[in-house]
Amino acid sequence: MMGCNRLDGKVVIITGGARGIGEATVRLFLAHGAKVVIADIRDNLGESLCHELGEDASYIHCDVTNEDDVRKTVDFTVEKYGKLDIMYNNAGTLDASIAEILNTEKAVFERVLGVNLVGALLGAKHAARVMIPASKGCILFTASVASQIGGFSSYAYSCSKAALVGLMKSAAAELGRFGIRVNCVSPYGVATHIADGLLPVEAVNMDTEDLLSKFGNLQGVVLKAEDIAQAALYLASDDARYVSGQNLFVDGGYTIVNPSLAIGFYSTLGQP
Ligand SMILES: NC(=O)c1ccc[n+]([C@@H]2O[C@H](COP(=O)([O-])OP(=O)(O)OC[C@H]3O[C@@H](n4cnc5c(N)ncnc54)[C@H](O)[C@@H]3O)[C@@H](O)[C@H]2O)c1
Repeated sequence: MMGCNRLDGKVVIITGGARGIGEATVRLFLAHGAKVVIADIRDNLGESLCHELGEDASYIHCDVTNEDDVRKTVDFTVEKYGKLDIMYNNAGTLDASIAEILNTEKAVFERVLGVNLVGALLGAKHAARVMIPASKGCILFTASVASQIGGFSSYAYSCSKAALVGLMKSAAAELGRFGIRVNCVSPYGVATHIADGLLPVEAVNMDTEDLLSKFGNLQGVVLKAEDIAQAALYLASDDARYVSGQNLFVDGGYTIVNPSLAIGFYSTLGQP
């Protein structure tokens, strides 16, 4: 059922919706007829985005690590729109782009897990609280290629995203009998603000997008936040009505390739 209104009348919460992948998803879901609640801690950004987007978008301050905030966000949505169809747990944070165990501070590790994993658990929990009685619903998470492979980012980030897939599978297993589908979207690197100051862009004299594209697998296409939003739209829509328990990679094949042998050949023999 591909079309322009694939989320007609659906009520959605998107955490981390004030910018980046979340913002792109807010825009796409609204264009497909949804009513969207943006839940974020960046109040100025979230409020001005809502102002721009009009009456089908609302903003609520929600720190996903705070269970009261998450509970209030779900309750606000149900009071305002009468239901919650789609909960997209997308808020996330990154502490470092390189994994160095000796530089891994316990407090930082716990902070990143608090947002990326515990925050997502709270979102799923309070969404399930209202979806179970409705006997339907869709819960999404933004994981990462780091959920599947080592070496892509910090210990904290990789652990949080790998555990998020465990959370997704547990929820898909438990909630299937209530008609609730649960899935992850896992992007390769997208040039949002999450990695600001964390990539060696100056050293290689490239901007973030060029650097990520150059070291990606699929060449000739630049991954954008809108591409992740399209994957989330698919999973949220009735096109995916029997899809649950999946971790959908939007990575141009990055996670299924180990380029080290090819790099060794090219450095010895030259590029073909
Ligand atoms: N950009 C990438 O390369 C990439 C790759 C893989 C996965 N991801 C994931 O995509 C998701 C979105 O990231 P993005 O790239 O759009 O980054 P971003 O920094 O542009 O957006 C993240 C949003 O989450 C919000 N947020 C952070 N902590 C929060 C909290 N405690 N409570 C509520 N909101 C909070 C931020 O305010 C921000 O609006 C994250 O889960 C991230 O881990 C990003």
